[in-house]
Amino acid sequence: MSKSLIIRNIAELAGLVPAGVLRKCGAEMSTVDSLRKAWLVVSDGRIAAFGDGTEPAADAAIDADGGMVLPAFCDSHSHIVYAGTREGEFLDKINGLSYEEIAARGGGILNSADLLHNTSEDELFRQSKERLDEMIACGSGAIEIKSGYGLSTEDELKMLRVIARLKAASPALIKATFLGAHAVPRNMSKDAYVDLICNEMIPAIAAPTLKPTHAMADFVDVFCDEGFFTVEDTAKILETAARYGIRPKIHANELAVSGGVQVGVKYGALSVDHLERTTDAEIEALKGSQTMPTMLPGSSFFLGLPYGRAKEFIAAGLPLALASDYNPGSSPSGDMRFVMALACIRMRLTPAQAFNACTLNSACAMGVSNEVGSITIGKRANLIITKRIPSLTFIPYHYRTPFIERVLL
Ligand code: NIG
Ligand code: FE
Repeated sequence: MSKSLIIRNIAELAGLVPAGVLRKCGAEMSTVDSLRKAWLVVSDGRIAAFGDGTEPAADAAIDADGGMVLPAFCDSHSHIVYAGTREGEFLDKINGLSYEEIAARGGGILNSADLLHNTSEDELFRQSKERLDEMIACGSGAIEIKSGYGLSTEDELKMLRVIARLKAASPALIKATFLGAHAVPRNMSKDAYVDLICNEMIPAIAAPTLKPTHAMADFVDVFCDEGFFTVEDTAKILETAARYGIRPKIHANELAVSGGVQVGVKYGALSVDHLERTTDAEIEALKGSQTMPTMLPGSSFFLGLPYGRAKEFIAAGLPLALASDYNPGSSPSGDMRFVMALACIRMRLTPAQAFNACTLNSACAMGVSNEVGSITIGKRANLIITKRIPSLTFIPYHYRTPFIERVLL
């Protein structure tokens, strides 16, 4: 017998989206539908009913005590499986070195790859689980996690096994992305490494049953940017992944106008992420596609990069997602509350636009907006119960006030 749970005394239940709406584009992003003085019933871990009138009976109750209830945040881009941290590079940055200069010295991703190689799988799981729990406490209920600090078949598989363990150990909805093409390992040419990714790594990841649903990665990613992988490298990797039914999500246009958006759209990428540097050609390329443009204001903040042209993307009628990019080099925070605040304060999105980008659209960017990202009958009851706050706008405005009373996953 499944038990039902009612959440009552909700001042405002926000983020209502009709079933079947999997993303919001352009002007649709400006509204967040809500219900005042509401209740919500959870049954079998899913949203079973909600309303604003007479409360139905239920087996158990939670009193929201005049707080708001929101869908938990969705974070479609993170790199939380890593070993150790990179404080030394933080100091280098303070002293004036750029992300590219640190990488060129053999720091950056290669530094994390060395640390990961020398860390046991159990310890890697322990460190990553801590970060995952921290993200959940900050309100995230669905999280994509990438490999990419292995850079050898053995270590990439080690990372993907850790992500599989996180999936099993956490109530959050987790998606795994294979990012072998994150950097070229030492002592190997780029071409040889791309061949290794295509001929050895992707087949090994897809191998367990050769069915995409049983692969060790849900998605494939490439860091398509200046000094890392070219459009040609990316196309080769995406073509290989497509043969195994694995869809791409692409790192593009962080360091330069890379062509990554166009190659991502061409291969049906679920999302193209970063986009700190884009021209009108990228906006045009995305029109009419199913690819979700995803911006990561936490890395613009931390690295001092330009913020993406979010308002222009939305004005062009495009959807937009936001994610944390939580990683040790360019965004050492997985707090979506801060992402939402940065989007409003620095990118000038309205709180409604930022909220839609951090929930439904971020879920869509990892292919799970049929399951999470809004208050919709049948979706998982991944919810935030807030303290008493005046409105949704208060969240990014009073950006350091801990507004979360409880995260229910
Ligand atoms: O998304 N840009 C590439 N990858 C990460 C940074 C990884 C790192 O520096 O460890 C990012 O910003
Ligand atoms: Fe990233």
